[in-house]
Amino acid sequence: PRSYRPKSKDHKRLNPHKLVLQYIVPCMNSYGLCILDNFLGNKIGERVLQEVRHIHQGGKMQEGELAGGNFGKNKSIRGDKIAWVEGTETGCENLGVLLTRMDKLITYADGKLGSYKIKGRHKAMVACYPGKGTGYVKHVDNPNADGRCITCIYYLNKNWNPQEHGGILRIFPEGKSYVADVEPLFDRLLFFWSDRRNPHEVQPSYATRYAITVWYFDSEERAEAKRRFRDLTASTQDPDGSSTP
Ligand code: OGA
Ligand code: MN
Repeated sequence: PRSYRPKSKDHKRLNPHKLVLQYIVPCMNSYGLCILDNFLGNKIGERVLQEVRHIHQGGKMQEGELAGGNFGKNKSIRGDKIAWVEGTETGCENLGVLLTRMDKLITYADGKLGSYKIKGRHKAMVACYPGKGTGYVKHVDNPNADGRCITCIYYLNKNWNPQEHGGILRIFPEGKSYVADVEPLFDRLLFFWSDRRNPHEVQPSYATRYAITVWYFDSEERAEAKRRFRDLTASTQDPDGSSTP
């Protein structure tokens, strides 16, 4: 593809298999990110939005945490509230549909995305930036090989005007002379490599901003990360009380 930005109607004609092979895979391998509009269509997208609003309004979202749990200082770094969802919970049926559709694309693409072998994913993170200038400072999702290889985000914001509402996701592709500004538009799906190739920030939002994020695991990197974690846990839980390696 000439750009990671599709003309939104182009891929409507493609079945998911072709969409993956003709657009998503080449786009990821050229740019490290890929945007897909009109992913679920208005009807199902609207239902997903209703479910997310319901989770939010039911008070089920917690302040987003940082790796290492920096309590208190969080809000200046990330200002979102989050809930973890499987998609099988009551009232999350359409979130389930979304996750199934995402998984399907990834399954079709598997073996063709860099040298990754995708094996499973994280629960979905439903996130709300409540406006008032909240955002998320520049960061890398997976700086230290924890197993996550692809970040997939689905946006839910109707009538979003970045000039007025801010909330742009700005990606700074490593070694490139451009930045990618992604507006968090309703029914838009985004993929990008989760590692240091894609530092990114959420610019301050001045309206309620909803997004659903899923991270897919690379089989080998995940297994290695689990081994490291297990060894670390074993040494710090040494019954003799010694935590020296
Ligand atoms: C994140 C993140 C981006 C977005 O939660 O790690 O970078 O556009 N979110 O919501
Ligand atoms: Mn991120």
